[in-house]
Amino acid sequence: MAEIGLTVTAIVIAGLILVWVIYLFIGDLSGAPFVPVDDRVLEEILKRMKMKKGGNFWDLGSGNGKAVFMAVKKFGVNGKGVEINPLLVFYCRLKARFKKIRNIEFFRNNFYKTDLTDADYIYFYLFTGTVEKVAKKIERECKPGTIVASRAFEIMNWKNKLTDIWETNGWKTYFYKV
Ligand SMILES: C[S@@+](CC[C@H](N)C(=O)[O-])C[C@H]1O[C@@H](n2cnc3c(N)ncnc32)[C@H](O)[C@@H]1O
Repeated sequence: MAEIGLTVTAIVIAGLILVWVIYLFIGDLSGAPFVPVDDRVLEEILKRMKMKKGGNFWDLGSGNGKAVFMAVKKFGVNGKGVEINPLLVFYCRLKARFKKIRNIEFFRNNFYKTDLTDADYIYFYLFTGTVEKVAKKIERECKPGTIVASRAFEIMNWKNKLTDIWETNGWKTYFYKV
């Protein structure tokens, strides 16, 4: 009996590791791999977005949800994260439920296929090339005045929308107003 239990546990763990590795590749191919941002850096980025309470904040490729949780807790916005990796989404939903946070949602989806029309603030930490494609989607969908922060990668076609650049440890974050 104990042997069966052990085998089942090993299969479940192996399955989770497999899903994790597969989605690391999928995330990498479809936008960017999972690399979380340092807390202090993240807080400064969110502060510079000058968010108003009750606004809608989106993180495109929300990873472990750090930015969404911080935006809700420290800046009083409604937090929404969209993430392709189901394990990360499961973790975020569990954390939100455990912490009893209501104004937070996590979607298991491709951000290219996600409706962003309600966004007031959009943050992402993606790749060069990906940010240009995301910018086109934002331009098509989002209302004028939407604040966008792109960690590490500049949106070359948005030079006329650039409002601020913040640099720390050799990495820049670019801020835009649509
Ligand atoms: C560099 S991480 C950023 C994590 C988080 N936003 C942060 O700043 O800490 C990029 C995330 O985007 C996710 N991702 C990549 N392409 C995606 C896509 N097309 N749709 C949804 N999520 C995607 C990856 O799985 C990964 O978790």
